[in-house]
Amino acid sequence: MPRRPVAVFAIAPWAFGGVFPADLVTRLQELVDIDPATTFTSFEGAAAAAALAEADILVTGWGAPRIDAGVLAAAPRLRAIVHAAGTVKAGVDPLVFERGVVVSSAAEANAVPVADYTMAMLVLGAKQVFSRARGYAAAVEGAPREWLRGEGTGLHDCTVGVIGASRIGRLVLRRLQSFEVEVLLYDPYVTAAEAARLGAEQVSMDDLCRRSDLVTVHAPALPETRHMLDGRRLDLLPDGAVVINTARGSLIDTEALTRSCAGGRISAILDVTDPEPLPPGHPLFSLPNVLVTPHLAGAQGRELRRLGEFAVAEVGRFLSGKPLLGQVEPEQLSYIA
Ligand SMILES: NC(=O)c1ccc[n+]([C@@H]2O[C@H](COP(=O)([O-])OP(=O)(O)OC[C@H]3O[C@@H](n4cnc5c(N)ncnc54)[C@H](O)[C@@H]3O)[C@@H](O)[C@H]2O)c1
Repeated sequence: MPRRPVAVFAIAPWAFGGVFPADLVTRLQELVDIDPATTFTSFEGAAAAAALAEADILVTGWGAPRIDAGVLAAAPRLRAIVHAAGTVKAGVDPLVFERGVVVSSAAEANAVPVADYTMAMLVLGAKQVFSRARGYAAAVEGAPREWLRGEGTGLHDCTVGVIGASRIGRLVLRRLQSFEVEVLLYDPYVTAAEAARLGAEQVSMDDLCRRSDLVTVHAPALPETRHMLDGRRLDLLPDGAVVINTARGSLIDTEALTRSCAGGRISAILDVTDPEPLPPGHPLFSLPNVLVTPHLAGAQGRELRRLGEFAVAEVGRFLSGKPLLGQVEPEQLSYIA
């Protein structure tokens, strides 16, 4: 009888139950031999060595140890790393690709809640819900109630600037098609024709800033995207513009953003910051026109299961020789998250 493929879990226990509930483990066990009672966050020691010696597939997730030369040497049968979370870049040594081990990430599945969250924030941000709710809570009887009427608010007929047609950016672009808005896109990897297919007009970063009522950031953190929204570009934004960042804090110059928001000219909704977390008492926490959330847009709670489902399906595709949906190629590493 041919040997059944063997897989090994490497994922932090706090994430394991949410990403791989019992029914998904059962589905995985129909495909491979895998012990759900053992999940490694370190590959030191005899138990890890014995598991790696047999592993055809590593099913990794948050908290997985880096797959480096030592792990590869200990895992001579290893053919695939299926990562049940987003970015896998920092977790695999380039040697993994050189040895021909296939790497897959569930970034596509993690993109869904971020896109959903972004849409919610575009609607709430355009309506200035957060600052107006604060105005309501702090209202003094008899004082002017200008926050009540909402003049100049609402997403209808707005221009939305999307930075990056990344996995998340594309899902946002798709969702934006059901809103009555004009959509601009900046992405150096996308042609004007492709932008049009995505429902957007391709523009330069400066034009995007000049024309957008709302800007939503979805590019990866790379040397060339650091401070792509710097003080000069923030100054190009129209009065009353809203900046939404669910990507990475380094894409925006925090000091310049703090100055622009403190002056009241623009608002910001930030799920990510630089530094992250912000130091306690940072002005961005208390400005009435800024909402800072603790990096919660990606998969959490009930959304975690989607990562496990993606990974189980990916293991199935790998074993039956079908193309993987989340395969990461080494030449992509310079421009993906
Ligand atoms: N807030 C959260 O919880 C959360 C969760 C997941 C991802 N993220 C972040 O969201 C962002 C998007 O993630 P993803 O998985 O969709 O990314 P991705 O890997 O799909 O992004 C790659 C794409 O970004 C675009 N891009 C590359 N360089 C660019 C540049 N200089 N300017 C504009 N666009 C550029 C290209 O289209 C490229 O194909 C990343 O910054 C990621 O770290 C945040």
